[in-house]
Amino acid sequence: MEQYIIKGGKPLIGEVTISGYKNAALGIIAASVMTDETVKIENIPDVRDIDVLLQAIEDIGAKVERINRNTVKINGSKINTVEVEADYVRKIRGSYYLVGALLGKYKKAKVVLPGGCNIGSRPFDQHIKGFEALGASVKIEHGSICSEAEGLNGAHIYFDVCSVGATINVMLAACLSEGLTILENSAKEPHVVDVANFLNSMGANVKGAGTDVIRIKGVTKLHGCEYSIIPDQIEAGTFMFAAAATKGDILIKNIIPKHLEAFTAKLLEIGAQVEEFDDAVRVKAVGKLGSSHVKTLVYPGFLTDMQPQMTTLLAISKGTSIVTESIFENRFKYVDELSRMGANIKVESNTAIIDGVDKFTGAVVSAPDLRGGAALVIAGLMAEGYTIVEDVEYIERGYEKLEYKMQQLGASIIKVDSEDTKAIKKFKLKVS
Ligand code: EPU
Repeated sequence: MEQYIIKGGKPLIGEVTISGYKNAALGIIAASVMTDETVKIENIPDVRDIDVLLQAIEDIGAKVERINRNTVKINGSKINTVEVEADYVRKIRGSYYLVGALLGKYKKAKVVLPGGCNIGSRPFDQHIKGFEALGASVKIEHGSICSEAEGLNGAHIYFDVCSVGATINVMLAACLSEGLTILENSAKEPHVVDVANFLNSMGANVKGAGTDVIRIKGVTKLHGCEYSIIPDQIEAGTFMFAAAATKGDILIKNIIPKHLEAFTAKLLEIGAQVEEFDDAVRVKAVGKLGSSHVKTLVYPGFLTDMQPQMTTLLAISKGTSIVTESIFENRFKYVDELSRMGANIKVESNTAIIDGVDKFTGAVVSAPDLRGGAALVIAGLMAEGYTIVEDVEYIERGYEKLEYKMQQLGASIIKVDSEDTKAIKKFKLKVS
């Protein structure tokens, strides 16, 4: 089993370049099979969830040509089945976008119910509501979402819950429906906008993405295009918080500062320094940081995907902080692991009450999910002594070369097989 070994206590200093946004790439890769022409997608993050989705579309007949680890050409003209049921697909969440994409193009799709991180109940009802409003019949049978339609017709849909997944999924199907679709109470996250921009580059007519109301005029056919994915706001946020946590100084490059405003505001509030440039942000911290109250909300509120990293930072800051998780009810699983490193956090229902401690001490901890795992890496970087983070496969689902990027900033971290005692000994000798 692979694990990270971290010798903590060094400030992270230097420059880091942010990769493409995984959660946008998942929607865009699924959408790319909606045309018979070739699309070229750049700035794809080299992470496991993307590998799984590319494999899934290749398995149903799409031609996937990886120009390099961050650029891919996809051609969906030879898709020979609309059934995506292989077991490995269950592991990721983004596979559900194939329902919207295939239903839009072929008026039929059968896709295994998605998995993804175990961070709370993750219903699909809003996706179903949208597909049914467009005229499809949708059933959950034998663990798969089965959808079918004679034809799809534009509709006026009001989402009961603001959902990134449902907004993107229904938007995909609506692009190839007849007439006008209006999506109200849509998610406004940057990746919704990126998928809409990609669809428009393929000839779709999507307006209003990034606001509550998205209007989609159906077209009969989409065409090929070249597209570059936006930078990953969560990866950027993770490095921003790692800079503050280790009392470091990092210039985070290839970002869109607007997407990071909620994190910037919190960092400034607790006493870190943040300087914004056109496509970079510099985060620096000196001395002890202060406390804060944080509530996760839909964009442009504070992202649930940054909640574990924020809580971890507050756990070694001065005073008492309160973090409320309002999107996913099970997103505090990493707190037990943090406690093993000395954190003083009490979780009551969806709220964490954090009493800042002076220091963390290294321990063996296990990543419970993607973002919780990243938070444990940050904890390890500021802890006294060695921290071992197990189950790194969760972290690799969404962070491109995390340990390499951290090493470039001066961190003492390696990824090793837990059985590889020689490599572990060598690392310890090097950093001691
Ligand atoms: N919800 C419903 N019904 C639905 C869909 C969602 O009630 O049909 C609820 C969920 O239970 C949740 C809320 O709506 O309480 C928001 O869920 P959303 O659909 O927005 O989340 P998602 O599409 O499943 C995406 C990201 C997550 C990220 C959330 C929130 C992808 C592949 N996943 O999930 O990313 O946390 O939006 O921004 O885009 C991650 O990257 O680590 C991750 C988990």
